[in-house]
Amino acid sequence: MTVPHSTAPASGATCSSAALTAALSLPAGTAPSNVPYPKTIKSFVRRAGRTTTGQAKAFEDLGPRFVVPYTAALLDATALFGRSAPLVLEIGFGMGEATAHIARVRPQDNFLCCEVHEPGVGALLKRIGEQGQTNIRIVQHDAVEVLDHMLPPASLDGVHIFFPDPWHKKKHNKRRLIQPALVAKLAARLKPGGYLHCATDWQPYAEQMLQVLSAEPLLVNTAEGFAPQPEYRPLTKFENRGLRLGHGVWDLVFRQRPSAID
Ligand SMILES: C[S@@+](CC[C@H](N)C(=O)[O-])C[C@H]1O[C@@H](n2cnc3c(N)ncnc32)[C@H](O)[C@@H]1O
Repeated sequence: MTVPHSTAPASGATCSSAALTAALSLPAGTAPSNVPYPKTIKSFVRRAGRTTTGQAKAFEDLGPRFVVPYTAALLDATALFGRSAPLVLEIGFGMGEATAHIARVRPQDNFLCCEVHEPGVGALLKRIGEQGQTNIRIVQHDAVEVLDHMLPPASLDGVHIFFPDPWHKKKHNKRRLIQPALVAKLAARLKPGGYLHCATDWQPYAEQMLQVLSAEPLLVNTAEGFAPQPEYRPLTKFENRGLRLGHGVWDLVFRQRPSAID
């Protein structure tokens, strides 16, 4: 399934991928200058949210098997999943709709999925139970710390960051996940040829993503600017609603340069 992307910019300004790419292309390693990047990212606030009875039951029944406690020690993914398979990290899966779909259409891959919002974790556990999935594990913790302490270099075949909080206000932009330091960490944890796939429906953030990812020396863009929506990423309810309202959606797929780390 390939859908048109970048067709209706959020701000009403026209946004062609090629024009944006040209305007945003920076020499490798150059950080864009108009965004204040902090040393550490606090990309979320803990939201209040009710865990439903079904989610609570899923926690009880499935939590012990599918939720991995955060520890500051490197993860043994083969032991964790009970098999050796390509490993994809997802950061911020929300209610897990896309996560469960992707894990279903890619049974050959293992998915390590981070989310801090408890009802979201319950919701994904519920889907795992309903769909009998075995290739997902959840860490209910800040993905930045998971990345720092649980994942060694060259351990990931892919990273998914779908619709990360856009932190619209200028003074909150520093909370955005996609900024040079985090992208450098992600890139270093990818295997050669491994991919980083981001998607957003907020044009200024899409522009920032393109700028930051293009400036990371370990990464290379798979497209001329924004990418066509990869088939495995479904249109979620949230995204469909946005598209009906005329919002655009931008996908970015970068790969680690094959000879970047020897
Ligand atoms: C806007 S939601 C998008 C959810 C989902 N990816 C989707 O497409 O519907 C962003 C999610 O990322 C989570 N999040 C933000 N920063 C995070 C972090 N550092 N570690 C784990 N989860 C995070 C938030 O709790 C929130 O649920």
